[in-house]
Amino acid sequence: MSNFDQTVRVLARNVARAMSPRPSASPRHRADRRQEKLRLEERLRFETLLSELSAGLIHVPAGAIDAALERALQQVATFLGVDRGTVDIHQEVGRGGRISWMLPGLGEWPHVMDAEQFPWTAKQLGRGDIVRFSEIDDLPEEAATDRASYERVGTRSKVALPLSAGGPMLGVLSFSSVRSRRAWPAELVERLRLLSEAFASTLERKRVELSLAERLRFERLLSSLSTSFNQLSAGDFNREVQHALHRVVDFLGVAHGSLIEFSRDGGTAHSWAIEEWMDVGEFPWMTARLQRGDVVSFSELETLPDEAAVDRQSYLAHRVKPHVAMPLMAGGTVVGGLVFSGGDAERSRADELALMQQLQILGEVFAHALSRKQGELETQRLRQELTHIGRVSAMGELTASLAHELNQPLSAILNNTETVQGLLEADVVDLEAVREILADIVAEDKRAAAVIHRLRILLKKGEIEFVPLDVNEVVGEVAWLVKSDVLLRNVSMSLELAPDLPSVRGDRVQLQQVVLNLVLNGLEAMRPPPAGPRTLVIRTARDDAASVTVAVQDSGIGINETDPDRIFEALYTTKPDGLGMGLAIARTIVDAHGGRLVAGNNEQGGATVHFTLPVGRKDEC
Ligand SMILES: Nc1ncnc2c1ncn2[C@@H]1O[C@H](COP(=O)(O)OP(=O)(O)OP(=O)(O)O)[C@@H](O)[C@H]1O
Ligand SMILES: [Mg+2]
Repeated sequence: MSNFDQTVRVLARNVARAMSPRPSASPRHRADRRQEKLRLEERLRFETLLSELSAGLIHVPAGAIDAALERALQQVATFLGVDRGTVDIHQEVGRGGRISWMLPGLGEWPHVMDAEQFPWTAKQLGRGDIVRFSEIDDLPEEAATDRASYERVGTRSKVALPLSAGGPMLGVLSFSSVRSRRAWPAELVERLRLLSEAFASTLERKRVELSLAERLRFERLLSSLSTSFNQLSAGDFNREVQHALHRVVDFLGVAHGSLIEFSRDGGTAHSWAIEEWMDVGEFPWMTARLQRGDVVSFSELETLPDEAAVDRQSYLAHRVKPHVAMPLMAGGTVVGGLVFSGGDAERSRADELALMQQLQILGEVFAHALSRKQGELETQRLRQELTHIGRVSAMGELTASLAHELNQPLSAILNNTETVQGLLEADVVDLEAVREILADIVAEDKRAAAVIHRLRILLKKGEIEFVPLDVNEVVGEVAWLVKSDVLLRNVSMSLELAPDLPSVRGDRVQLQQVVLNLVLNGLEAMRPPPAGPRTLVIRTARDDAASVTVAVQDSGIGINETDPDRIFEALYTTKPDGLGMGLAIARTIVDAHGGRLVAGNNEQGGATVHFTLPVGRKDEC
């Protein structure tokens, strides 16, 4: 049976006892009988009040418990004719606090568990004993300090009962009188003890319900963080981390939150903060400890060791006091740190422990997000490297075009220079003609420089750069690059470019690489003597409102596979000197652009490989 049930039972029994007529042993004086009757009625009213209060508290929801206890205190204090009724709750219990009722005009009064002011009282209560005195002089010798304190706050009589719901002490229930003395007969104290048990179980219920609600709130936070981090791409990382930090800071009720990322070489790679206070460089001591995997936590700057002088200055400058920094571990290494500061310095030990546990779990979520991001960036880097290799090898196949493009201006320059030399040997130099030829030389030189420039761009190992692009322009440049090879191979190439195409967002060099790969594959598919003419068509079209298509159609041997998708597999090749990487790379590039690359055979022979690209939004292009 719970404490509370017991309380209600005892109360009910007392009520019943008080209401049943008592056998009168001997005839009594009339006045005596009246007094006895009054006393009984009074007791009955008190019992009824207590049992109503106790029973009523059972149904009060957690959020309304404080108000209900305050009302109960008022009713009991009024009934007893005392001036103050107080429930002082310990720090450890739901952040502590005080619920009280007092006669208007009375000032605040100290907690009786304050051992400095009330050492004797606190000791008695701590042992589970009830403290009561009708007047200050009733207090024993050893309670001299308490007596002085009671006098100072004007308390004349008092009863204080420890609150406990079977476990550790939750707080103290007390009633005190300021205006007059008041007696605390044992019978009354016994009733109050029952009331204190009802109070204690109500407080305990509130603590449990609140901690459950808090747990639930935390679980919700965790699951929403994990969901958003799991769908996270490296590109959205900054925004999502800011968002997540905001939510965690709100949840914890702190002022600042930041995430630090350590790079593999042990340096700090990056940090994110919801307020721009966290510059890791300002906190060398904290950072070094985090990197060693230590938790750094303090609530007073004075407790920081001497080595933390620089950090202390920074905390002072940023007016940061309570602070906790948690290392983030992934696969046995420290990948970063999670730092929170400011806010409620007055946390109890129990709160502190709960907070550390929550931070540990949050730390795992953030560590996972960081290591995922690092993994994704690594893949991105490898992919870029591969794309670059692909580009270099594709360019290698364009020797004819490139040699031609460079040879043309160079031989024109040579011709023109020889002509000028001839002109200069004449008796009368035709300066006008020399000037014209020199202008031609300059123009040819510029053309050669332009070819080299374009090649350099294509072969450069640059960062991917998403910009608004005109697809027709991208296709046009590839056509220009390959035109000599096309001619040499006896192929007729035509461009069917749709006018007024909307722009797409993409990386110019990578998309050129895709088109170049498709064109080269088309040319190679037409290498064996075909039945009809060799034709290559590069077509652009507006697919629908949301996408643009680029198609490369050839009249070659066609795809020799029942599943045309196989040709996109890495290392799939039917060519003796092929790598089988061209289409695999092309597909990764198109995927990264949010498009689709597909292949199929034409009815009239040959194959068409085409890709779509999403049209950039108005505000992006
Ligand atoms: N237009 C096409 N017509 C017929 N088959 C094609 C066409 N394009 C690609 N293929 C087939 O797909 C295979 C894979 O093409 P992919 O470009 O990935 O590699 P590859 O051309 O063999 O070598 P490389 O890595 O040098 O480009 C080719 O070997 C070929 O069999
Ligand atoms: Mg290829």
